[in-house]
Amino acid sequence: MKKVYIETHGCQMNAHDSEKAAFAMTGAGYETTLVPAEADLVLLNTCMVRDKPEQKVFRRIENLKQEIKKETGKFVTFGVMGCVAQAEAERVFARNPAVKLVVGTQSIGKIPALIGQLEQGFPRAIDVQLTKDADIYELPSAARQTAQMAYISIIEGCNKFCSYCIVPYTRGRERSRPAERILEEAKSLAQQGYQEIHLIGQNVNSYGASGRYRGNTSNSTSVGQQGGELTFAQLLALLAEESGIPRIKYMTSYPRDFDQEIIRVMDEHDSLCEWVHLPAQSGSDRVLKKMRRGYTSREYLAKIDFIKQGKKDYAITGDIIVGFPGETEEDFLATLRLVAEVEYDGLFIFQYSARPKTAALAYEDTIPEAVKTERLMKLQELQDRIQRRRFERSTGRVVEVLVEGVSARSTDDHMGHTKCHKTVNFPKNNSKLGEIVKVQVTRSGKNSLYGEIV
Ligand code: 5AD
Ligand code: SF4
Repeated sequence: MKKVYIETHGCQMNAHDSEKAAFAMTGAGYETTLVPAEADLVLLNTCMVRDKPEQKVFRRIENLKQEIKKETGKFVTFGVMGCVAQAEAERVFARNPAVKLVVGTQSIGKIPALIGQLEQGFPRAIDVQLTKDADIYELPSAARQTAQMAYISIIEGCNKFCSYCIVPYTRGRERSRPAERILEEAKSLAQQGYQEIHLIGQNVNSYGASGRYRGNTSNSTSVGQQGGELTFAQLLALLAEESGIPRIKYMTSYPRDFDQEIIRVMDEHDSLCEWVHLPAQSGSDRVLKKMRRGYTSREYLAKIDFIKQGKKDYAITGDIIVGFPGETEEDFLATLRLVAEVEYDGLFIFQYSARPKTAALAYEDTIPEAVKTERLMKLQELQDRIQRRRFERSTGRVVEVLVEGVSARSTDDHMGHTKCHKTVNFPKNNSKLGEIVKVQVTRSGKNSLYGEIV
C-alpha cells in the first residue's frame, strides 16, 4: 500500500477534515503514516484565517520537501487541502512545483478520483467547487485520530460575513446537517466506546436556521423528517436523550444566535458539558459595528449574564482581536473592561490580520504592528491574572476527567479534560485511556490543573 502523511494546521474543522481525508485516502489505496519520509504523498491541511498561518504553509512545504529529499533522496509529491487550497486554487501550484494536488474544503470526498487522475499521468489534479449541496458530511466514515473523543460536524460554512473574516469565502454558505444523521453518527460512536463528542461548526448556534443540507438523506425515523429544522437547543436535547454519549461539548458559538433556551437545555442534561466558547472579538461598540458582529458589548454581556445564572458552574472561553483598523486606545480600554467583567476561563487573543476578499480591507490597516503586539501583551497579562484565579477555584474540588493520553510533562502521569474543558494532569494510578475518573485537584496553574485520582 502507498502511504500518505497528513499534517493539519488550523481549527477543529480542519482536524476533523483531515480525519475524513485520511479515510478518503484509503479509498485511493493509501494508508496513513506519521513519518514524512515514509510517505508517497504529503497532504497539508491549511488555514488562512490570518496571514501568518497562510505563509507558514508554503514554508512548511519547502522544508518538508528538503527534509524528505535529504532522508530518502526522492522528491515527494505534495497535496494541499483546506482553506488555502480553496481560496488560492490554481495559484497554489505556482507557489511550489512539488504540489500536484489541490483539494477544496468541499472536495474531500473526491480525493480518490483526483488521485486517480494523477495516477493516469495528469500532471496536476484540482477540485475547488463550492456548492450548497456538497456531500462533504456524508463520507462513509472518518478515520478518527483518537478513541476517546470524536468530532462530529453539525453545520458547515458561515453566513455572517464579519468584516475581518475569510471563512465565508473559504467554506461557503451555511449548511446544516440533518439531525437524524448526526444522531446516527453519535450513536455509532457511543457503541464504539467514545466517551465524548464535540459538535463542531463555524457557528453551531445557527444550526437548522438556514441552508439545510439537501444531499441524499435516508428517509426513515421521525427526527429524519425534520432534518436540519431542529434548533440547536433541540439538537442538544435530542443528543443528550438518545445518543448514549456520556459527555457532549460544542463549539463555536455566536453571540447573536446564542439564546437562553440553550442554557436551559444544558442545565437539564448531565451529559451536556458546562463549557461555552462565545467569542466577543472586541469590547468596543464602535469596533464591533465596524466588524459587523451585530451586537453591542451590553448585549454580549447580557448573554454572559444568563450563562452565569445557569444552574451549572459554566466555564466561558472566548476570542478577541486586537488592532482592528481604527481601534483607538479608548476602544482597547473597552475591550480590557469587557474581559475583566466576563472573567474568561480561557481566551484566544489575535492581532488583526487583513484578509483577501473581506470587507475590512476597505479600512486602512492603520495600527502599527508594535501597537498591536503591545495591546495583545497587555490583554494577555490581564487574562493570565484572571485565569489563575479561575483555575485556583478548582483546587480542593473533585472533578470528572476523561483520560485522553499521557501527560506531556511526565510519563508517569495521564492527562485529560474536565467537563468544563480544563486540562488536568494526574498520576496514572492504573487508570486507562477512555475512562472517566474522579480527580481531586491539589494544584492549579495558569493553563492546567493537577490532582490525584480518588
Ligand atoms: N485577523 C485576526 N484574527 C482573526 N480571526 C478571524 N479572522 C481574523 C483576522 N482577519 C480570529 C477571530 C476568530 C478566530 C477563529 O480567529 O477571533 O474567532
Ligand atoms: Fe468568521 Fe464571523 Fe463566521 Fe466566525 S461568525 S466564521 S468570525 S464570519
